[in-house]
Amino acid sequence: MNPGPKSQKPRVRLHVNVDHVATVRNARGTAYPCPAEASEVCMAAGADGITAHLREDRRHIRDEDVRAIRRRIPGLLNLEMAATREMVAFAIAIKPHIVTLVPERREERTTEGGLDVAGGRESLRTAISELTSAGIPVSLFIAPSPAQLHASLAAGAVQVEFHTGEYANLTGDSRACELEIIRAACDEARAAKLHVALGHGITLENIGPLAAIESVEEFNIGHALIADAIFLSLSGAVRAYRAAIEASRAEPQ
Ligand code: PXP
Repeated sequence: MNPGPKSQKPRVRLHVNVDHVATVRNARGTAYPCPAEASEVCMAAGADGITAHLREDRRHIRDEDVRAIRRRIPGLLNLEMAATREMVAFAIAIKPHIVTLVPERREERTTEGGLDVAGGRESLRTAISELTSAGIPVSLFIAPSPAQLHASLAAGAVQVEFHTGEYANLTGDSRACELEIIRAACDEARAAKLHVALGHGITLENIGPLAAIESVEEFNIGHALIADAIFLSLSGAVRAYRAAIEASRAEPQ
């Protein structure tokens, strides 16, 4: 059978966020399931990296999880964290391959919005400069807005991750509009030589149009992929997201 023309678009990295493996473990106070072991399974199934969010309240991932993931997986570790002194010191000790700085409020259920880089908080600039000086590249989790993008560039980020939560929550024409906003932001970021990631609320149902954006280089996917693993197995879920990305990249524009 002729498999048809191969996609000309560059490959997109799939990073699996394993926070919710820890959520399941912590619900019962057991030692299982282990986020580091889950990370190994994801890598063996075709993930390109692992993302873990160490929150101030340690509600899911704990310090020892990050250390174990760093030790056990051969591939890339993206540590998500707030721009606090405690987290910056931890990251410099652990040396993840990249840090993604995110806003964090204790009362939120998940990361509900992007960083206000344009608002110019001193602590953010300090964190970026300390991490960069320690040889850790910094990605900033921001809304797909030109103001936040320009501020991220000026602040010394090497990558931006655009928040796709709004896109995920919308339907129909409103979602199509948000997709165009994300596309424009991705294209502008790439033109400015920033690396481009997308994350938040991404599912097998909504990933296709995002993966078709040529300038996207990386996805960070957590909750839906771990939920899909209940039905597909963890390896099966990683393969399903990989296949959905490839199918979308192979489609003609
Ligand atoms: N990217 C960032 C920066 C995040 O904070 C999160 C949530 O922790 C994700 C990606 C993953 O989002 P989701 O769990 O909705 O896939």
